Parts: sequence; C-alpha cells; structure tokens
Amino acid sequence: MKKIQIINGPNLNLLGKREPAVYGNTAFEGYLDELRKIYPQCEISYFQSNLEGELINKIHETGFGYDGLILNAGAYTHTSLALHDAIKAVTSPVVEVHISNVHAREPFRHVSLISAACKGVILGFGLDSYRLAVEALLAPEIDN
Ligand code: DQA
Repeated sequence: MKKIQIINGPNLNLLGKREPAVYGNTAFEGYLDELRKIYPQCEISYFQSNLEGELINKIHETGFGYDGLILNAGAYTHTSLALHDAIKAVTSPVVEVHISNVHAREPFRHVSLISAACKGVILGFGLDSYRLAVEALLAPEIDN
C-alpha cells in the first residue's frame, strides 16, 4: 500500500467558506473522501495547520517513510525559506500544489520559495490539483 501524506497550510481549513470565487465551495474533508475512493491502493493521510513550524514538523515526521508528500503551503509558499529547507532535508518526493493559478493572480503570488526544493508543481486546477499530484506520485517516473 502506497503511503501519501497531504499537508495543507494556513487558511486552507476554511476551504468551502473562504473566497469561494477563487477556491470553490467544497470543504477539503468532503473532497478527501472522494480522493480516497479513487485510490483504494493508497493510504492517504491528511494534516492541516495554520502554523509554519507544525508544517515543518509534519514534513520531518512523514518525509522519510512515506512514498510521497503533497504540500499546499498556502501563503507560506511565498515567504518560507524554512519550508524550503525542510523539503530539501527529507527523502520522500514532495509535490507542491495550489488550487488557484497563482501566476494569474497578484504579483506577490508569482514567486514560490519552495518550488525549487520540490519534485514538481501542480497548480490552477482547483481541488483536482491534489488528484493530479497523487497521479504524479504514482507515476513510475517519480523514481528518477
Ligand atoms: C494557494 C495560493 C496561495 O497564494 C494562497 O496564499 C493560498 C492558497 C492555492 O492553493 O491556490 O492560501 O496556495
């Protein structure tokens, strides 16, 4: 059974309520149930925190044993060198995801401090970005 950890950062606990025009009307927990049904061959764990250090702790905790991490770091994407270093420190591949197309938004969202440390980036496909990230982690090329 492949083990995948999804980590959501600040304000993503409010999905479904927060800026629905940008992030949609679906709460993450409902989406996660659907995702788990699509991938019965995977054990998909989920963690959300609004605190940078807790995100780093979760990366450390899961980043040496899991087959892959899917990280939506929220606004810390654009600010956190510490998250970049945490991703670099672990051995599991990390896929950066964003629900919105950050490049079509404000200029301060165009820079990611974590992309260079990640295996790859998926963004702009709404919540489906997470499913695409699971696909990426299951693809054989991930072993490269
Ligand atoms: C986000 C994009 C970030 O710029 C923003 O701060 C978020 C959500 C996204 O999933 O589109 O909180 O990561």
